[in-house]
Amino acid sequence: MAKLLYVETSPRKQRSASTEVARAFLDAYRTAHPADSIQEIDVWKLDLPEFDEVAFEAKYAGIEGRERTPAQQAVWNRFVALAQPFRDADKIVLSVPMWNWGIPYKLKHLIDVISMKDVLFTFDERGLLGLLGGKKALLVLAKGVDYSAGSATAPWDQQTPYLKVWLNSIGITDITLLPVEKSLYGPEVDRSSRDAATASGRALAASF
Ligand SMILES: Cc1cc2nc3c(=O)[nH]c(=O)nc-3n(C[C@H](O)[C@H](O)[C@H](O)COP(=O)(O)O)c2cc1C
Repeated sequence: MAKLLYVETSPRKQRSASTEVARAFLDAYRTAHPADSIQEIDVWKLDLPEFDEVAFEAKYAGIEGRERTPAQQAVWNRFVALAQPFRDADKIVLSVPMWNWGIPYKLKHLIDVISMKDVLFTFDERGLLGLLGGKKALLVLAKGVDYSAGSATAPWDQQTPYLKVWLNSIGITDITLLPVEKSLYGPEVDRSSRDAATASGRALAASF
């Protein structure tokens, strides 16, 4: 029985393209893998610690081999608890809207508070070593315009490369991309783009 973690990052809910496509994928996944468990996280409902000086020193204490103060340990415990679903999962599905060529700040905030040495990665003289090797990820990526290969705006896309680098840095290299583009090209293009991505997602569910 595999564990799938679904992380939803659009606040738009009912009209969200990334959520719509990801939820169609999850419905098909449930049918194809009835024994698997699915945990859901909505980043907009998480209580994320501010990355203030205490948080900074809690992170660096581990890197520099210092004892944490009680306040640093308390925030460190929150980092570890927030990272735990990522450590527990066998498969991770992220649905992500593009915001200003990157990702929504709530997802970046989550990434900042869970990307900790000895939690999601470690490093030694060989460099960075991700600790989540062997897991696979699906990225459902909604974008307002066209970023397909060869398009004029393709080089502007910092959402896809950023998420791939982050996943690689924590050891996840088996990454499937499911783009939902052109949601700002009017209702007809938006609908056909969502339908095409939904069909691709459903087709993927059994083998994911
Ligand atoms: C704050 C904000 C910034 C955005 N920035 C971009 C952008 O840089 N490029 C783009 O193609 N679309 C951009 N969009 C459009 C969204 O990516 C698009 O509406 C997408 O469908 C949102 O995903 P969702 O429907 O799952 O929420 C932006 C939307 C918002 C709300």
